Amino acid sequence: MFNSKIAGIGHYVPERVVTNDELSQYMDTSDEWIKERTGIEERRFAEKHEETSSTMGAKAARIAIERAGITPQDVDFIIFATLSADYYFPGGGVLMQRELGITDQEVGALDIRNQCSGFLYGLSVADQFVKTGMYKNVLLVGAEMHSMGLDFSTKGRGVSVIFGDGAGAVVLQPTEDNTQGVLTTKLHSNGTHAEELAMINPGSHGGYHLGKEKFGYPEDPTFKSIFVTQKMIDDDLIYPNMTGQLVFKTAVVKFPEVIKEALDSCGLQSSDIDMLVPHQANLRIAQFVQKRLGLSDDQVFNNIQKYGNTTAASVPIALCEAWESGKVKEGDLVCLAAFGSGFTWGSALIRW
Ligand code: UT7
Repeated sequence: MFNSKIAGIGHYVPERVVTNDELSQYMDTSDEWIKERTGIEERRFAEKHEETSSTMGAKAARIAIERAGITPQDVDFIIFATLSADYYFPGGGVLMQRELGITDQEVGALDIRNQCSGFLYGLSVADQFVKTGMYKNVLLVGAEMHSMGLDFSTKGRGVSVIFGDGAGAVVLQPTEDNTQGVLTTKLHSNGTHAEELAMINPGSHGGYHLGKEKFGYPEDPTFKSIFVTQKMIDDDLIYPNMTGQLVFKTAVVKFPEVIKEALDSCGLQSSDIDMLVPHQANLRIAQFVQKRLGLSDDQVFNNIQKYGNTTAASVPIALCEAWESGKVKEGDLVCLAAFGSGFTWGSALIRW
């Protein structure tokens, strides 16, 4: 058995900076409210019709691949995590493969749909493949293009001010040094509150979970396409919804819990963590987790101020910036953790 190590890391964020003040031109919100409740100062929005989650993913991937000292042709497995895929199907993995110009290799591409914890789930899957020696260069990417699917009217302000676009990527390779690389990953889920942070439509539910009437399904849907109904569009039921306080309250419990679980399984304590890179959901959540674990400011990396919540991309973008700025160094114990829609959550410990 090998350990898997992050051999290369990269990130990409679109050029367009969208400030809180700009958002307040489209909806009833303010820079003060957004900063106070979330810590976010600005976010990036991709160029509509020119960029997608898979093209941004490919840009981050190219950097990670180069830094790993390999070429795109050397990638032997692709894992792509997003909630904002270019198409409903197929997933973004094959589109990114095509964008990278490596279709000739015909390597496997796995799509991960675990939203904010997508990168952690992907890391765990990649780790299993590398550990067993099955793959030697696994490309793992988290990428999001939220700006295409948010409600920028006042009705959507509780959700839309939070999210931003971007992508982060890593290449995982085997190492025979079992004190290095991914030490453990922990994954959890609980579907009880699946709809409390969700984009329900379009979907194949047909009203099953929440009632046919709510979505405007016709009485006799035989042979009629009902994937999207007019009522969904008219009633703005095609946007993500979130019960923010429930998500917040659950997150501040699950983050420390799953981090502690990882530490315990390795015989480590929170004081051993050199750098915690939490999913960038809300600065207040990260600060709460920091306090609960007794970590100092230089043991936690946050960049939500610049990018908002980029969901599956947030952990690799933050990890990449932490590494680029010298805040993650060889030998450091790095802890990654995420919580989000599903609810799903997870953690990882990496000896850098
Ligand atoms: O990564 C995915 C996981 N997601 C999360 O982790 C998100 C977790 N939750 C949160 O981050 C917070 O709950 C939010 C930032 C989403 C909301 O903050 P909050 O402090 O929980 O506010 P709230 O939803 O309780 O709303 C408080 C007030 C309401 O007005 P009233 O009813 O008190 O008059 C909202 O209508 O703030 C209002 N509000 C806004 N006001 C200005 C909600 N959104 C906005 C806004 N601008 N953007």
